[in-house]
Amino acid sequence: MRVLLTGHQGYLGTVMAPVLTAAGHEVVGLDAGLFADCVLGPPPADPPGRRVDLRDVTAEHVAGVDAVIHLAALSNDPLGSLAPDLTYDINHHASVRLARLARDAGVQRFLYASTCSVYGAAGGADLVAEDAPLRPVTPYAESKVRVEDDLHALADGDFSPVYMRNATAFGYSPRLRADIVLNNLVGHALLSGEVLVLSDGTPWRPLVHAADIARAFTAALGAPREAVHDRAFNIGSEVNNVTVAEIAEQVAEAVSGAKVVITGENGADPRSYRVDFSRFRTAIPGFDCEWTVKQGALELADKYRDHGLTQEDFERRFTRLAVLRAASDAGTVDDTLRWRR
Ligand SMILES: NC(=O)c1ccc[n+]([C@@H]2O[C@H](COP(=O)([O-])OP(=O)(O)OC[C@H]3O[C@@H](n4cnc5c(N)ncnc54)[C@H](O)[C@@H]3O)[C@@H](O)[C@H]2O)c1
Repeated sequence: MRVLLTGHQGYLGTVMAPVLTAAGHEVVGLDAGLFADCVLGPPPADPPGRRVDLRDVTAEHVAGVDAVIHLAALSNDPLGSLAPDLTYDINHHASVRLARLARDAGVQRFLYASTCSVYGAAGGADLVAEDAPLRPVTPYAESKVRVEDDLHALADGDFSPVYMRNATAFGYSPRLRADIVLNNLVGHALLSGEVLVLSDGTPWRPLVHAADIARAFTAALGAPREAVHDRAFNIGSEVNNVTVAEIAEQVAEAVSGAKVVITGENGADPRSYRVDFSRFRTAIPGFDCEWTVKQGALELADKYRDHGLTQEDFERRFTRLAVLRAASDAGTVDDTLRWRR
């Protein structure tokens, strides 16, 4: 298939593009390139792509495409809370516009990068499946719920949106993010000797390796239409349903000499959910995640050491919010996060 991959220069897109290519797909990227230079290790070989803001996409960008994988977004809660209006403009309105253009152009499958944080304050130890009530607690998560709703209204006999509700990602990507929990804790442990947890450690936080997300999207792309059409899927594995305190313990085991410090200064985190991932395994027989949290912590520690992660890079270069704040302060992007020409 010819696949338009939005967000191909992000954390997940950089891992997903080569997996799609290896599966025989022709990948064309589309990204504003906000984090294109935030690379740890050798520069990645990006697929052919275009530097386009999602809000400026036209019919030309989806012409001749068989499927769209839509990752581009303001990708976390702090970004969403910094600028809720922008989050809705980019994550919600521009995403739905892209889907309409894709449908009009005859694109048959639209894989949307949603998130398990749509379950928000699900709380408790019960596993939440895809039909659980959605209780988003941040503008970021709310934007994802709105897109799912609007894509559902576009689904028809020729256009199949699929809602891939990813757990929180971890693992090495050349375009690293240090602002997601495991990547953050491993970096902190290496740089300071402490596995620093600011919450009380009790929230459940299901995790999934970036490479497993890439494999899941690739599998959903090739699945029979009836298996995925207009369906939501939790992407991850029950073995990686862990509390933040358990994640911290795994990190302490992976980084020798590191000690767990739970300060609790941010109090209890309302985002807590334990997730049932069986629907995707049933829809895609043979699929399962390959990476555990422990393996991911060991991999990250090795990559951080090999590529010489510094405190400065950890706090600024690989933290999405810090990068955008710096670009805004330097005047390279305007108030709406568009590049100044
Ligand atoms: N990483 C996770 O833990 C996780 C979990 C669940 C869902 N997701 C979703 O997966 C997707 C990818 O996440 P990621 O971790 O790779 O994030 P990321 O921030 O690394 O990548 C997002 C990409 O989108 C691009 N982008 C942002 N605004 C844009 C705009 N206006 N126009 C064009 N491009 C724009 C950025 O330049 C970046 O390359 C996002 O939709 C995110 O919400 C991520």
